[in-house]
Amino acid sequence: MKQTTVSPSPRRVDVPSEFGRVVVIGGCGAIGADFVTAVAPFFDISVIDRDVEKVRLWRDRWAQYPALNVKDVSCSYEALRGADVVVVTIGTEGPEGVTRGSLFELIEQIASFLTDSQLVILRTTIDPGTTRRLMSIADTIAPSELDVVVAPERSLEGAVERELLTIPQLLGGPARAVDRAERFFSTMGVDVIRLPDWESAELAKLICNGYRYMSFQLANHFEMLASEYDCSYDAIRHAVQRDYPRAYGLSAAGLVGGPCLPKDTRMLSDATPDGMVDLAAAATAISDEYEAWVADRIERRLMGLRERTIGVLGMGFKAGSQDRRASRSIWLAERLAAGGAVVVELDGVEQARDVPMDCLVDVFGMTETGYLPTTRAGTPAAVYVIGVGWRSGPGSRDD
Ligand SMILES: NC(=O)c1ccc[n+]([C@@H]2O[C@H](COP(=O)([O-])OP(=O)(O)OC[C@H]3O[C@@H](n4cnc5c(N)ncnc54)[C@H](O)[C@@H]3O)[C@@H](O)[C@H]2O)c1
Repeated sequence: MKQTTVSPSPRRVDVPSEFGRVVVIGGCGAIGADFVTAVAPFFDISVIDRDVEKVRLWRDRWAQYPALNVKDVSCSYEALRGADVVVVTIGTEGPEGVTRGSLFELIEQIASFLTDSQLVILRTTIDPGTTRRLMSIADTIAPSELDVVVAPERSLEGAVERELLTIPQLLGGPARAVDRAERFFSTMGVDVIRLPDWESAELAKLICNGYRYMSFQLANHFEMLASEYDCSYDAIRHAVQRDYPRAYGLSAAGLVGGPCLPKDTRMLSDATPDGMVDLAAAATAISDEYEAWVADRIERRLMGLRERTIGVLGMGFKAGSQDRRASRSIWLAERLAAGGAVVVELDGVEQARDVPMDCLVDVFGMTETGYLPTTRAGTPAAVYVIGVGWRSGPGSRDD
């Protein structure tokens, strides 16, 4: 479970009475807890989460900060009664990351607690058309005058608390709902960007993440292509970017995992109509191809994996993160172990220095400081750096 540190903002503002009480559903999740912490200096907050353990943990944590107006944290939807604003940050469910199902389930669970006057803000990532379908269900089981706005969470994992108050919020939906949501975010001094409908805001989030993921996979494609000609993509990238701003957007190649980018790109692929070129699916296919390419390359360089000791450095899903959700480093470690290697999982460069091994796979370029990290262990290990383009270090056999 994520160990967010709570840093309450000292700012207090006059809160309009229309936002007297805010309820966050899914408020103990990775995104929800940061959202609550960011907005709790401004509003009275009730948090609802169905995970009993997380509820206990966050109730204790928030209780230590009286400057945060977190009034109650529970598993009960009763807290929805009399709420002015309902914020939904529930997560994606299941191995394929389908959010839509869980939202439909949620509306059935909470319908009887909702009232006409409430503003509902959906921050969960959803595919285009989900809110409209949700509303057609709500029309029959919930009050008909609900104001629903899609305000997707665009922050990076771990950055919500900081970014919520600094990056503009995208708001999509009917004008009255968007007006109210704009006033809600303005209360905290947050800029908003209005979109004409729910679908635009739903798509906007998928496009943000799809764009990033596809850019990374394009880099992976270029790296595999360059290697076919015995060229280094990394060297080419640096060359074309020098004093040539048009190429600045070219990413480094590397493994891309985590709870959002691959999932949101799959959602974009699902949203692509039949008959239209599915670029999102191509990006996912490139990712699979690239990962197999990396694993095969390590195996070939080491002339087989059996009984080789391989360190994998950087086990989180991105550089500097301890969050292992959907980490491709874990996939790589398992893949190498399945081939017969002894795999040592390493989170920091310092750990790597003490472990004798045949090869160190530096997933995010953490050894870029220029020294061989295994010197203390006395073994001249090969260093394969993936995260900044494939590169072999001083001890490698064949580069
Ligand atoms: N993690 C990220 O970096 C990130 C970034 C931007 C957007 N998002 C999106 O934000 C959403 C939340 O992601 P997350 O990473 O916080 O997920 P998470 O799994 O960490 O948190 C979701 C929380 O919702 C709770 N929950 C689920 N269903 C519930 C229900 N019916 N009632 C009450 N509580 C319920 C869960 O117990 C959990 O605590 C997802 O749609 C995700 O795509 C995530």
